[in-house]
Amino acid sequence: MNIDFSKLSGKDIYKVVSSTVIPRPIAWISTLNKEGVLNLAPFSYFIPLGAEYLIVAIGHKSSGEEKDTLNNIKETGLATISFVSTNTMEKMNLSSNELSSDISESKEYNIEMKSIDSAFPDMVSRSEGAFFCEFDRIVDMPHMTVPVILKIKKAYFQNNICDENYDIKMNNIARVGKSYAKLDNI
Ligand SMILES: Cc1cc2nc3c(=O)[nH]c(=O)nc-3n(C[C@H](O)[C@H](O)[C@H](O)COP(=O)(O)O)c2cc1C
Repeated sequence: MNIDFSKLSGKDIYKVVSSTVIPRPIAWISTLNKEGVLNLAPFSYFIPLGAEYLIVAIGHKSSGEEKDTLNNIKETGLATISFVSTNTMEKMNLSSNELSSDISESKEYNIEMKSIDSAFPDMVSRSEGAFFCEFDRIVDMPHMTVPVILKIKKAYFQNNICDENYDIKMNNIARVGKSYAKLDNI
């Protein structure tokens, strides 16, 4: 089948790309708003951009407004990215529901958070690891989705995940189309 993207709706383009660029890692991003409410949401249009930088593409709410994550990153300059394995998959999925910005997904869905570094938003307690990031810039693109570049400042891993040589064995799940996949060695 040949597909000409200029003839496709945005929805169909999304469908083709999401099912093709697979597996995608999931950034489970926690941010704080001005009032200190912790927001938590997953993003899979997410990839490293060189060693220290990450890019995450953030769309809009159904109302057309900015998503809380983007708003908070712009306001506070900070984001914590927790990684997702099968033990947190269900909660991660729940946290993608569109809640009002004064309601914390972590409280609403009983997702336990922990503080690793008081300078950054809390990470998900059950995650095997997290990156603590600073906002770098937004890439100006003529598109609905906003590509945000974050710089990794610090990382945390559970003791059984990372050794003193920084050999790291994460059990991340990945986004594949609308479902999820586990990693397997070949
Ligand atoms: C696995 C998964 C991946 C997602 N990836 C993205 C993404 O890359 N970009 C995006 O804008 N929304 C993505 N979403 C939807 C957001 O999580 C959702 O819009 C959420 O409500 C945003 O929350 P916020 O307004 O609190 O930031 C994803 C949802 C799931 C379940």
